[in-house]
Amino acid sequence: MNERVEKALNDQIEKEASSSQFYLGMASWAEGQGLSGTSQFLYSHSDEERFHMLKLVKFVNERGGIAKIPGLQAPPEKFKSLPNVFKLLLEHELRVTESINNLVYVCLQEKDYTTHNFIQWYVSEQLEEEALARTIVDKINMIGEDKAGLYLFDRDLENSTIQSSVVNDGGTGA
Ligand code: FEO
Repeated sequence: MNERVEKALNDQIEKEASSSQFYLGMASWAEGQGLSGTSQFLYSHSDEERFHMLKLVKFVNERGGIAKIPGLQAPPEKFKSLPNVFKLLLEHELRVTESINNLVYVCLQEKDYTTHNFIQWYVSEQLEEEALARTIVDKINMIGEDKAGLYLFDRDLENSTIQSSVVNDGGTGA
């Protein structure tokens, strides 16, 4: 496997793993705050990121490279507020998108069209994840400090049709 592509893929493995940890930290914090809908949503999102990482690990190994399993970095234990959690989540997803775009660029530079094709799944996934995070941030901004509104928001997230692709596709990522 091309060295630059392998390195870019391993960097992405690290990013997906740290996304999973970050969202797990958020989910646990939300659970402690009694925000059951939000925590359920974030636990599921954390699982999804782990799946993104695994998909890359398997691809690198199948293509003759060596997948590097990154060490775990502790996420924050506390967050300022619910709006802050989703603001951080959106910012994080924007950085992941940047990193995926860089991966696409490296694939094209190195003429690795197989990896380029594989990465298209992540390009689409990022579009969805960014849109979802933006919708949630917009909703929360509309609610502001209204406690009843936040209660309904949390309940909506619990009953939401917004589900992770892990749930929707049975974990195949198809
Ligand atoms: Fe796998 Fe949300 O980036």
